[in-house]
Amino acid sequence: MDKIIVRGGNSLQGEVKVSGAKNSVLPVLSATLLTPQKCIIENVPDLRDVRTMIEILRHLGVNVNFENGRLEVESGEFAGYQAPYDLVCTMRASICVLGSLLARKGRAEVSLPGGCVIGTRPIDLHLKGLKALGAEVNIEHGYIKANCKKLRGTRIYLGGPFGSSVLATANVILAAVLAEGETVIESAACEPEIVDLAEFINKMGGEIEGAGTPVVKIKGVNELKGTTHAVIPDRIEAGTYLVAGAITAGDVKVKGARYDHLGAVIDGLIVSGAELEIKEDEIRVRRDGKISALEVTTLPYPGFPTDMQAQFMSYLSLADGISIITEKIFPERFMHVGELNRMGADITLEGSTAVVKGVEKLSGAEVMASDLRASAALILAGLVAEGETVVSRVYHLDRGYQNMVEKLRSLGADIQRINN
Ligand code: UD1
Repeated sequence: MDKIIVRGGNSLQGEVKVSGAKNSVLPVLSATLLTPQKCIIENVPDLRDVRTMIEILRHLGVNVNFENGRLEVESGEFAGYQAPYDLVCTMRASICVLGSLLARKGRAEVSLPGGCVIGTRPIDLHLKGLKALGAEVNIEHGYIKANCKKLRGTRIYLGGPFGSSVLATANVILAAVLAEGETVIESAACEPEIVDLAEFINKMGGEIEGAGTPVVKIKGVNELKGTTHAVIPDRIEAGTYLVAGAITAGDVKVKGARYDHLGAVIDGLIVSGAELEIKEDEIRVRRDGKISALEVTTLPYPGFPTDMQAQFMSYLSLADGISIITEKIFPERFMHVGELNRMGADITLEGSTAVVKGVEKLSGAEVMASDLRASAALILAGLVAEGETVVSRVYHLDRGYQNMVEKLRSLGADIQRINN
């Protein structure tokens, strides 16, 4: 199994380019099922999750060609309606084929994603939304089995105990685009990836209004056509490289970082003492003073993203003072705490709040990645730790960061991936 070895101490300098957003590509790929015609998706990152989604589409009988960041998808009259367990269990986001399959085939069978290390992840909002549109949904033998004759537009309140849901919003949009009449989603997720999905569908001939706000209106249309679309840059990857610049007291330009998608992360960096230079499509981060302690609470967009919580914890473990990090999206998403403490951090957990007492330095250790963003956090900690950090189980990283080792090395990090 591959490991990543980082020798800490180098201050990162230079430029790094952000890849396309994983969390946009996945629902956009699902949306290609809504038309038999060819769609071309550009700026596609080569990631394990994207490859899994391609496998699901192929399993359904769809033609997919992926080369040099460009995907050609032509669903034609595909016959499949099932996303099987062996694919879904590696990527929970596979659930976003549910809405498109119902819309196009009137039938969907998607394996229940099951638990994952960041906590229990219910699917009640997905099911509530699809049922409201007229689908009959049952859970049988570990599968979500959904059927419908014709979906009909309606008003749906999609808020849950933790606020809005990104993929439940995507699923309802995907199902509603070809439904009869108008659907109104209240308490819709406002994430930029939902806006990107709506833009893609509108280019296909869909009629979606209000994406990016809590109220999304979808007028059903009879059919959609093929189109070309470049997905937005990955705001979480961008945020991770901004933290890499800040944690190493470096000077890093993150090309493709969109400030309008990164408000809470930018604010956290500035308040903690980093210097930011913000341009239309790049952000430069520098730091030479101390890191000030912060209070961070993860919330649905435009709040602080849960997908940046672990990376900020690494950064704040070196702050001057005590930081408080509260997780309001996935209250159990703290598997990285124990590993950071093994590197000399001083973090205690009280329920869904982490109390991070800043320490003078971290020290390299053998640590284990538990999930995608935790892997990135451990690598960030390794960049500044004294000595060598060996991160194992890095296959998690391949789900969401394209060429992270090469990108960090190009900024001057002493990092390598080994196979043993
Ligand atoms: C998406 C992102 C993921 C990110 C998460 C939160 C993709 C592919 N993944 O995941 O990277 O961490 O948003 O920003 O876009 N919930 C329910 N019932 C449901 C669905 C969700 O209660 O039916 C809860 C979840 O447990 C969680 C909260 O709602 O507490 C938000 O989760 P959600 O937005 O659905 O996450 P995903 O869309 O799966």
